[in-house]
Order: sequence, then structure tokens, then C-alpha cells
Amino acid sequence: MKIFDQIANSKEHTGYRKREEVFSHTVDGGNAAKMIKGYINILNFYNFKLNAINNCIDIGCGAGYITREFSENNFNIKGMEYSEDALTIAKEHNPNLEIIQGDMSKFKEENQYDFIFSREVYLITRVNCFTEQKQIISNIVDSLKLNGIFMLVASDVSYPNCMDYNLIIKTIKKDKNILVSSKYHEFIFKKFNKFIFGKISYKILELLLMPLILYKKNNGWASQYIIIFQKI
Ligand SMILES: C[S@@+](CC[C@H](N)C(=O)[O-])C[C@H]1O[C@@H](n2cnc3c(N)ncnc32)[C@H](O)[C@@H]1O
Repeated sequence: MKIFDQIANSKEHTGYRKREEVFSHTVDGGNAAKMIKGYINILNFYNFKLNAINNCIDIGCGAGYITREFSENNFNIKGMEYSEDALTIAKEHNPNLEIIQGDMSKFKEENQYDFIFSREVYLITRVNCFTEQKQIISNIVDSLKLNGIFMLVASDVSYPNCMDYNLIIKTIKKDKNILVSSKYHEFIFKKFNKFIFGKISYKILELLLMPLILYKKNNGWASQYIIIFQKI
């Protein structure tokens, strides 16, 4: 079986030896609150207007802290999980959120969503399979309404065994119906969000922080990237 299929078909999360471990693989509440501010800043930059009635989903939500934080910021968002363990925990932990079972590799619900979010799912971060990953992204973008945004947050923690982000961006850029951003460093938005856009451009901030980024990378740091896909 191809490595992609192994990862795609494993219902068990390899990191969840104990049920509680779903929490250690999930961003906690304090960090989620900081990150959402950065995510909203990027959405504003892309002129994303959240309608009062909206339909959003967090694919691979883990324990659901990020999902919950979006929901507290007026996103009508549900969580989606593949693993049974995470599904049970996410439901117990978020009685007021809708959490459904589903598989990112098969996800396609045409023209249904204003906003789709997905962070650190192994189909993207633990295997490098261009054909399958491009298909996943295309299916997710198909699932957006016009002007809807898919925000992908994914790391190079297992590099080179992760999606080739640059190649995906370059390839999808050729599709005139999809606007694709370059890679934003998530930590810049988390730690320096209040300086970005209105006050200082992200690019300048990234340039100023480049020595730190390179130093951290040389010391084994895996960065999380935010990539925006907008259906236009
Ligand atoms: C590292 S956790 C990240 C959780 C959360 N998104 C966050 O950033 O805090 C990855 C989650 O994706 C889920 N997952 C893995 N493969 C999936 C798939 N094919 N479809 C949906 N969810 C999946 C796992 O069960 C796990 O809970």
C-alpha cells in the first residue's frame, strides 16, 4: 500500500496511545485565542467578509480549541475529525459545537462553505504526495462558495516528508479561478499580529525577522505556514 494510503486510511491517530493525548497534539485555548487574531487579520487583508449567516468547517480539529475560538468570533463553524478518539473527546469537550466524523482525503461538498480551515493534518504534514495532495486542495476549494477562503496551516516538521508547499502554490496559481497566497509564517501573526498590515507590511516584518528564522531553522525548528486559497 502506498504511504499516502496508509496515512489516509489509519483511523487511529498514531500519537494517541492514551485518549488524553489528543490534547497534547492540539493547540490549547490560550494559544488558539492569540492565533485567531492573526488569522482574522489575514482574512481582512484578503477582503473576506463574514456574512451574518455563514457556514464554516475546521478539518482535523483535534480537541477543538481553534474551532471554539472561531465560533466565539461569529464563525458558524463545525469541527471535523477522522480519529474516533479525537471525535469523542472533541464532542465531550465542546458540547456547544457540532463535531462530525469525516476524512479530509474524501472531503468534497461543492459550493457549501464560506470558510474552511485546516491545521496540521498528517495527510499534508507527514507525506509528500503531490497528486493526492493537489486533489485534496482542489476538492476543498470546490467546496467553497464564491470568494470563500480555505486557510491551510501546515508545518515542515517532517520535511522532506510533507507537502511540497511551493510546488502546490506554483501549480494552483495557474488556475485562474483560485487566488493563492505565498507562505506566511504563523508565528509572526501569533506574536506580532498587532504590527502587521495597517502599520507595517508583513513582508518587511518577515525580512526583519529573517535572521531569527534562519537561526531557528538551523537548529531544527519546524515552522508552521499559513496559505490562503480563495475561490474567485
Ligand atoms: C496534529 S492534530 C491538529 C489538531 C488541530 N487542528 C490543531 O492544530 O490544534 C491533527 C488532527 O487531524 C486529525 N486527522 C488526521 N487525519 C485526518 C483526516 N484524514 N481527516 C480528518 N482529520 C484527520 C487527527 O485525528 C488529529 O486530531
